Amino acid sequence: MRDTVMVVGSGMMGSGIGAMSALAGNRTVLVDLDAARAEAGRQKAVECIRLREQNGLASPEQAEAAVGLLFAETDSLAVAGRARLVIEAIVEKVEAKQALFAQLDAVLPVEVPICSNTSGLRITDISARCAHPERTVTTHFWLPAHLVPLVEVVMGDKTDEAVAAAVRDELRGWKKAPVLVKKDLPGQLANRVFQAIIRESIDIVASGLASAEDVDTAISCGMAMRFPVWGPLKHLDAIGLELGLSVQQTVLPSICADRTASPYIEQLVAEGRLGAKTGQGFYDWSTRSIEADMNRRDAFIIEAVKAVERVGGQ
Ligand SMILES: NC(=O)c1ccc[n+]([C@@H]2O[C@H](COP(=O)([O-])OP(=O)(O)OC[C@H]3O[C@@H](n4cnc5c(N)ncnc54)[C@H](O)[C@@H]3O)[C@@H](O)[C@H]2O)c1
Repeated sequence: MRDTVMVVGSGMMGSGIGAMSALAGNRTVLVDLDAARAEAGRQKAVECIRLREQNGLASPEQAEAAVGLLFAETDSLAVAGRARLVIEAIVEKVEAKQALFAQLDAVLPVEVPICSNTSGLRITDISARCAHPERTVTTHFWLPAHLVPLVEVVMGDKTDEAVAAAVRDELRGWKKAPVLVKKDLPGQLANRVFQAIIRESIDIVASGLASAEDVDTAISCGMAMRFPVWGPLKHLDAIGLELGLSVQQTVLPSICADRTASPYIEQLVAEGRLGAKTGQGFYDWSTRSIEADMNRRDAFIIEAVKAVERVGGQ
């Protein structure tokens, strides 16, 4: 009987992914290198489920059922005997992922998709030693995986689009917002957009147009307020494409189009100003707390997820 979602690697990402799988009603097995790590991952997954329950994102009955569907194991090849879907979330090293994919590919029937949560590697490379790379695909969950809805489903050079579409449809049933990315390129989809925002943000600071705090305020308190339900392309359709075109013609010639890393950030790195961990970056961290800001960020994400569930998403 193939009734199990197997999540290999039960660390920070695997535990959140496992929680969402179990909440969707799947028998879910978290696999790690030893029993202590696998069990720690299962307990973290239970905490993720409880957090959703405490915030009204899962009913007590759903949470109780999900906790009962979570298991911890150490032998991925044994668990593969019942797996209908595999998501790998082990260390970000191509050799380790290649070895695991080759082992699983050799024992799993061809109709079982093998997915990787890689953030920076190509699924094409991860599946290089598989006999059936067409059933491999990236499923890039965003941190924290039990809260942020986005999952980038990225096709490798040999991925069967029907497999990618089936994985996307499965993740929709996990209350996720999966997007299909049809080429295996650096930055997948969302990090390509994010880098464009970061490039311009740094350039605004470097050119003296505004301070780092004001750049972040402009984004956080302006466009980002509508982003959860209103993306930039919907925005263009709303204002009219002829106006969007005219703004592009006026603004694009004066914004940053560099194709290499910013000399400004290179200089900060050379000076040892690495951000919160060294006390200085774009902000002065000697007088503020990154932990407090992270807690506020996570509290906001919970409220945003609740609001999107209320009013509907993108
Ligand atoms: N942390 C993030 O923000 C983030 C976001 C998206 C994607 N990712 C990606 O998700 C993956 C996991 O990241 P993480 O932050 O959860 O790492 P992590 O270190 O918290 O967890 C990785 C787990 O995998 C286990 N592991 C390593 N090799 C294994 C193997 N061969 N078999 C079974 N278990 C094994 C480790 O013991 C560990 O518990 C990476 O590919 C990472 O790039 C991370």
